[in-house]
Amino acid sequence: MGWADGRRALVTGAGRGMGHATAERLLADGAGVIAVDVDGAGLADLEAAGAVTIVADLADTEARQRVIDEGRSGRLDFLVNAAAILHPRPFWEVTEADFRKVFAVNLESAWFLSLGLGRHLTEGGAIVNFSSPSARNAGTIEAAVYGATKTAIQSMTRSFAHALAPRRLYPTGGFPIGASTRSPAYCRAPLRIVDASPPILFQQAILTACDFERFICTCCTGGATLLATG
Ligand SMILES: NC(=O)c1ccc[n+]([C@@H]2O[C@H](COP(=O)([O-])OP(=O)(O)OC[C@H]3O[C@@H](n4cnc5c(N)ncnc54)[C@H](O)[C@@H]3O)[C@@H](O)[C@H]2O)c1
Repeated sequence: MGWADGRRALVTGAGRGMGHATAERLLADGAGVIAVDVDGAGLADLEAAGAVTIVADLADTEARQRVIDEGRSGRLDFLVNAAAILHPRPFWEVTEADFRKVFAVNLESAWFLSLGLGRHLTEGGAIVNFSSPSARNAGTIEAAVYGATKTAIQSMTRSFAHALAPRRLYPTGGFPIGASTRSPAYCRAPLRIVDASPPILFQQAILTACDFERFICTCCTGGATLLATG
């Protein structure tokens, strides 16, 4: 029996990058996976490997509801909100439509999927959100809107952690730094904690092992935000 046998996960942004790697890894470890992306081509190999795939624009309310309905159609242990867009522009070139789109994909989708699925997750399940160093540092003037969504993700994650803690549900906001966006290596490589809050609790767990089980299970013990690099 693998650690993920019998468990079920919903992964957004599963068409490529870290969402794809996460879905692949969960499938390989025995979980049922619902893989969601606006780009259907990126989901084909996951479908061939047994995932239920949903092509959905998570900026769209109705599409989001379809995803929530699928998540609620059976048990659900993990919600991984990886979908995001960067839309790099100096902020004075960001239109109102651009602004709304980046917030809709990066923040609203994570918020409303967590709302729709959070209380449906099995006890001990986890919500994994992806933040970014852009939440803290204006590394580039072109990531102002993106960074704002990632700061909001951290705040949201902390609030949801408090709200869901009585059911032993563990939202986590992680910060992948400079991860190769096309490489699955991030969830296999050893993670090095650069900064973490609260530090002691999580550092040891992540330093000792970064198999995805431990990542998903040990990082998800209290809504802390982690700054990690692989
Ligand atoms: N790669 C990095 O270095 C890095 C650094 C910091 C944070 N992050 C965060 O980690 C997460 C994963 O990053 P990545 O580099 O693997 O991303 P990526 O750009 O490689 O993949 C994002 C996926 O989201 C999908 N997506 C975009 N808009 C969508 C929509 N409207 N509806 C549904 N799906 C949509 C894309 O099609 C794509 O498959 C993101 O939340 C990102 O912000 C990444």
